[in-house]
Amino acid sequence: MKNKIQIILACAFIGFAILACGQSSSPSVPPAAVTAVIVPEEAVGAEAEAGSAGLGDSYYPGFGNGGYDVTHYTLDITVNDVATSDLTAITTIAANATQDLLSFNLDFIGFEISTLTVNDAPADFSRKEQELTVTPLKPLVAGQPFTVVVQYSGSPDEMQSVALPVSTGWVTVDGGSFVMSEPDGSANFYPVNDHPLDKATYTFRVTVPHPLEVAANGALIEALDNGDTSTFTFETRDPMASYLATINIDEFDIETMTSDNGIPIRNYYSSELPKEVRKPFARQGEMLDYFSEIYGAYPFDVYGSMVMNTEFDSALENQTLSIYGIDMIDYEDVAGTELTVAHELSHQWFGDSVSVADWSDIWLNEGFATYSEGLWIEHLDGREALDEWVKSQYRDVVNYPQYYAAPGNPPADDLFNGGVYVRGGLTLHALRLEVGDQAFFEILPVYFERYQNGNVSTEDFIAVAEEISGKDLTEFFDNWLYNETIPPISAMGLGVE
Ligand code: TRP
Ligand code: ZN
Repeated sequence: MKNKIQIILACAFIGFAILACGQSSSPSVPPAAVTAVIVPEEAVGAEAEAGSAGLGDSYYPGFGNGGYDVTHYTLDITVNDVATSDLTAITTIAANATQDLLSFNLDFIGFEISTLTVNDAPADFSRKEQELTVTPLKPLVAGQPFTVVVQYSGSPDEMQSVALPVSTGWVTVDGGSFVMSEPDGSANFYPVNDHPLDKATYTFRVTVPHPLEVAANGALIEALDNGDTSTFTFETRDPMASYLATINIDEFDIETMTSDNGIPIRNYYSSELPKEVRKPFARQGEMLDYFSEIYGAYPFDVYGSMVMNTEFDSALENQTLSIYGIDMIDYEDVAGTELTVAHELSHQWFGDSVSVADWSDIWLNEGFATYSEGLWIEHLDGREALDEWVKSQYRDVVNYPQYYAAPGNPPADDLFNGGVYVRGGLTLHALRLEVGDQAFFEILPVYFERYQNGNVSTEDFIAVAEEISGKDLTEFFDNWLYNETIPPISAMGLGVE
């Protein structure tokens, strides 16, 4: 894994040679061919070529692949043995070629591939690390749709994220499994174009032994009893970034409710958990309606939370179905846990519907979700309560600056640094004070509406803030996002000597 980080960093520094880096890890190209890649792009002409092995992310250039755009994934998975997550699977990918392609890559780790077809014809493929290079019988034509079917079996490789020290992807636990993939775990259970730039809709068809159940993104379309096994089919209505795809296996207590505005909620609680676990989730309907009021209508067809009976010290905003480790639930502090619930829920707008175009801009997810906690406090208890929260967040940064990197520049191997959360959230509060409440509460819904179901950069957000406020905010954002030390909030007496 260390090697991989080094490779990625080396690539980042070579700039134009990112392409060469991608190629060097592509197994179909012998090492001698690497030099041949350093040819001006124009010289390649209109001939079909290999799709790039990365999407040029500034932090993780190898994530995702170029040359095509996925529209839909169908994941057909049979869990043969829950204890080892032994799977037999077929992933069907519907995509459009965005250039003429001799070959293209998918991100896929582990498993044994038994057959791989493109447009129903067997295709050549080779594998190296997370790159699966597919060479169809006939080159693919720019603008044309194509279908890839990959049949595979085995157990997911245990995997550590390159971005933070957690097990990621499909994680097997006692009695079941769960999936948490931000930013790089998805490739350990399905072949994927693994970057948020390529969103697609999903169908999950998962077969598990009795009496287990499946919880996945979107709406449950069908639950079939096959005798010894059950098959659960889920569909996402809306496109989704690959890292938000989640399939979870356990026995669940399911709780359903509807927000006043009519958004259906289904919560999945690991069935061994006590009823008290539900308390911090009781106000999700109110949260959905409140955030819909200030950010714009809830972007998806359904929402809910899932609590696993496993400690993993984190929660993740999987689209339409956030997941929580049991140690995220503080039975003694329901109101405190509610803030985490509000955080994950607000990510449905910021992170899931409006997604980063480059992982370096992660503060657009975490800063917005953190400030949403503050806004939920303000909604419940008023402006003074929010101000107290802001002050305590600010004090933390001042007292422990080593934990809070500049939010616009988190380390690539510590992407979810405290800075993107706390300093990111404080950046939004400072913006609110800078432009006034009226402009601030117009900036957020305009930004959301403009980029819903799409991707954004920090520049996109700044542009909306400037457009609505009529102010030049270049210096403001430079200071708040990139200064090593947090700027003062003079209006609140914070950071002022
Ligand atoms: N986005 C998560 C949050 O709400 C944090 C996170 C990032 C995470 N990657 C993860 C959690 C992987 C669990 C596993 O703050
Ligand atoms: Zn978050």
